[in-house]
Amino acid sequence: VTRPDLAGRHVVISAGGTREPLDPVRYLGNRSSGKQGYALARTAVARGARVTLIEANTGLPDPAGADVVRAGTAVQLREAVLKAAADADVVVMAAAVADFRPAVYAEGKIKKKDGQEPAAVELVRNPDILAEISAERRGRPGQVVVGFAAETDNVLANGRDKLRRKGCDLLVVNEVGERKTFGSEENEAVVLDADGGETPVPYGPKEALADTVWDLVTRRLD
Ligand code: C5P
Repeated sequence: VTRPDLAGRHVVISAGGTREPLDPVRYLGNRSSGKQGYALARTAVARGARVTLIEANTGLPDPAGADVVRAGTAVQLREAVLKAAADADVVVMAAAVADFRPAVYAEGKIKKKDGQEPAAVELVRNPDILAEISAERRGRPGQVVVGFAAETDNVLANGRDKLRRKGCDLLVVNEVGERKTFGSEENEAVVLDADGGETPVPYGPKEALADTVWDLVTRRLD
């Protein structure tokens, strides 16, 4: 039995992956399943927190005891996260947010035309929600902000660099590999702390990684 060490706390978790529409039938998306974010939501409920789960395109059943908000695109996710973060003790950005979105949304389906090369898709940058939340936290003393990062090489050095750039308190760094991370029930990661700490989490259920994150978060809340 877990002790209710998050009782009285409001935690906000984003999960899933954003989809950036090109036209009414097409989008740019990513492979995030949302399972790690949902494991964070379930374990936070079990530890007594009030949980707001902001989900993007997961198709997963709502976790019992969490308030679920739906957001499809990065811009919608930003709105939902900023709103929920206003009275949050903890914000965990587990969602895979598209870095770019198509510059134009075609109101009608884009057609292929005979004998013509396909048009290039122009992209514009999406807002960096994690960096924004971390910066705004200055007005919310004590709020703990957690980010995620998927890296393919120089995992720890890139993670350290990202933690500093984003300005969050904790960064969960995943090495992206074959069976790891995407869509799987298991995960393996290192949690980097802005104070310099490094907590390796061995390959195992996403719940176990989630509980390690909450252990580190509660230490910062105390
Ligand atoms: O920069 P990168 O996408 O690797 O950073 C990953 C972290 O930043 C994740 O926590 C993700 O939720 C967050 N992020 C964000 N807004 C973006 C891109 C990423 O909040 N536009």
